[in-house]
Amino acid sequence: MKGLVLAGGTGSRLRPITYSMAKQLVPIANKPIIEYGLEDLVEAGITDVGIVISPETGNAIREAVDRCADRIGFHPSFILQDVPRGLAHALMTALPFIDGDDCLMYLGDNLVKGGVADVVRDFQHDRPNCQIMLSPVDNPSAFGVADLAPDGSIRQLVEKPAVPPSNLALVGVYLFDATIAEAVHAIQPSRRGEYEITDAIQYQIEKGRDVRASIVSGWWKDTGTREDLLAAQHLVINEMSHEIEGELIDTEVRGSLHLGKGSQVIDSRIVGPVVIGDNVQILRSTIGPETSIGDESQVSDAIIESSIVMDRSGVHGWKIRSSLVGRGTRLHGAAPAAFVSIMLGEQSEILGE
Ligand code: DAU
Repeated sequence: MKGLVLAGGTGSRLRPITYSMAKQLVPIANKPIIEYGLEDLVEAGITDVGIVISPETGNAIREAVDRCADRIGFHPSFILQDVPRGLAHALMTALPFIDGDDCLMYLGDNLVKGGVADVVRDFQHDRPNCQIMLSPVDNPSAFGVADLAPDGSIRQLVEKPAVPPSNLALVGVYLFDATIAEAVHAIQPSRRGEYEITDAIQYQIEKGRDVRASIVSGWWKDTGTREDLLAAQHLVINEMSHEIEGELIDTEVRGSLHLGKGSQVIDSRIVGPVVIGDNVQILRSTIGPETSIGDESQVSDAIIESSIVMDRSGVHGWKIRSSLVGRGTRLHGAAPAAFVSIMLGEQSEILGE
């Protein structure tokens, strides 16, 4: 079975973070979102992985994937999709790579807690033409939605319906056999102008092919808000092990802490779960819970709770909560007395008066 990770698209909903960064590279607990999917594929035994990239962010994705491929243990092939014309179009573009094999398509901005090994095993055992995963959501209109018959079979799939037939959203993980090639070629663009994978699967249903669905919990995808990203971090950070490679000096630690190489935490308090990258300096601060601090960041006299602070950032004297601080961004100068919640893009600066 081949793996196909979709990492094209535009990422317009996570702005300002995605003005300068592909959404699949936004770090969750200090690891780009896309790496979670790649790890899931390898864990399920899939090591031949095609990555669909766009002209805009393709180089950044390629660098990030090349950096982790050996460590995770897969062989990447990069497939350029010239325009983001939909998930079925991305799959169509990747057909020469898939070359008639079975394929697991994983959307690069999704996180599935518990991985995909079980669903891959079921697919290989039962050999349906297509297997999808569904999860209950509060806002089904933002997703592909399934209408199931009482026996659990799929009656219909609809993409982003104004009046959803159920609250069961399609998770961004799909397993296909070779018959999907006919389906992606048969469909027409939807009202929003995209070749929808939902329509291709609906085509399979109408052709009488065997399309199965299983229901999962512990799934997350970006729907564009700071709260969503923090919820994703919540999903994974509580599972992380306690691992101290850096140095703790006069610092109290409660709960789990992952402290990277070359990092120093001095005269501070850590309330885990907390993940701190490599070569980070933390001085006279309180960090956590559920907070990640990226590599080469500097924090002093600050309190940071439930936040994502990306690489090479600086937080000095500020109290932040439920915040997203982009790479290379600095918060310093006289800070407000109260906690603030912020979302700041790359290379920004806030200098309090
Ligand atoms: O995440 C689950 C949802 O993903 C499903 O419930 C929907 O049925 C499905 O259509 C999809 O919805 P979105 O509209 O939210 O997908 P998005 O545009 O965010 O794209 C998902 C991933 O695929 C993302 O990593 C970008 C990539 N992509 C997207 C498009 C449209 C491509 O590589 N090429 C594309 O043309």
